[in-house]
Amino acid sequence: MNKMTVRDIEVEGNKRVLVRVDFNVPLDEKTGEVTDDSRIQATLPTIKYLIDRGARVVLISHLGRPEGKVVDELRLTVIAQRLSQILGQQVGVATNCIGPEVEKSVESLKSGDVLLLENLRFHSDEETGSASFAQALARLADIFVNDAFGTSHRAHASIAGIANYLPAVAGLLLEKEVKTLSGILENPAHPFAALLGGAKVSDKVGMVENIMDKVDCLLIGGGMAATFLKARSYEVGSSSFEGDRLDFTVKLMEDIAQQGMLLLLPADVVVTDSLSTKAKFKIVSIDSIPPDFRIVDIGPQTITNFSRELDRYKTVFWNGPMGIYEIPQFAEGTQAMARLLANLKATTIIGGGSTAEAVTEMKLAGKMTFVSTGGGASLRFLSGKVLPGVEALMDKEI
Ligand code: 3PG
Ligand code: MG
Repeated sequence: MNKMTVRDIEVEGNKRVLVRVDFNVPLDEKTGEVTDDSRIQATLPTIKYLIDRGARVVLISHLGRPEGKVVDELRLTVIAQRLSQILGQQVGVATNCIGPEVEKSVESLKSGDVLLLENLRFHSDEETGSASFAQALARLADIFVNDAFGTSHRAHASIAGIANYLPAVAGLLLEKEVKTLSGILENPAHPFAALLGGAKVSDKVGMVENIMDKVDCLLIGGGMAATFLKARSYEVGSSSFEGDRLDFTVKLMEDIAQQGMLLLLPADVVVTDSLSTKAKFKIVSIDSIPPDFRIVDIGPQTITNFSRELDRYKTVFWNGPMGIYEIPQFAEGTQAMARLLANLKATTIIGGGSTAEAVTEMKLAGKMTFVSTGGGASLRFLSGKVLPGVEALMDKEI
């Protein structure tokens, strides 16, 4: 990575270091407790690095989409509590993220203390990228560290704007994400397979185009498989497919064939006529999907086909669930792929978002080579696009 990191700047000497983290974690609807703390855990290396060097650590994050208003359920108190537990040190919380009160709290921190400021998105100026809001944040610190890889595709005030007013460097998580994902683009070990799922082809178009000349095999599951099957003239029942992506998909399949790449589509699928938890479902071959039924998972034959194929790859990148895995009857495809990847002797890289959540829920994250903390951000990065939050950081002197 050609950007300076926290290792390239002097943080010693009681400096105030403002760290943008992505603590946008899922919360239990009833209790409000954090249900998956992977994103919090992932920032520990940077936070500990700074504590060990005696910095005064000020953390900033968003949570949810409160759209510029204070929403009590989206306060960061519960996150500070979880961070205190896993860090083994008290983490203070402020009631705002800018202003004289916050400046005073930061000033009174002692070397090695950690303070978490309130949800940035309680201010609409955060998402509009307001310069005055970025300046107000910058007044709190001597150095800015971006460790919020998951939000680095947003040109928000706390991600990009703030770098205009403070020396700005990457945190250790952001560095690791960029290095690992760049590795896929620059020199993946071959053969290299990409397993793609999720609802829409349109979400993945940019990435597929950018990795086309690097992958040896593309395997398609999830809702997006319907568009591929339709492009091959199969009837997909009541599955939603993207009519406006059919041309792209047909062209993509032609290019794949021309390049001698392998494309694996489902051979059978799980279909249902309702999405309730008590829904009836059946397993059918792709040439006999009934008119009123929609695809909700890959079938057992497809699981076998995908598993046999993936077994021989040296690099496997996975983004997007194989079905509607939130409903237990339609989770088998996603779970089978998670178990398979966990046991492969290959470099296994999991895109963030729902794929990462599924793998974490199954307690298999530790068995993968790398699980990204960024959903939209990792897709954007793999599309070959510059992330505003990375772009804004200081270049490394060569
Ligand atoms: C995410 O979870 O996608 C990031 O935290 C960014 O959040 P956003 O999609 O609401 O901008
Ligand atoms: Mg998002």
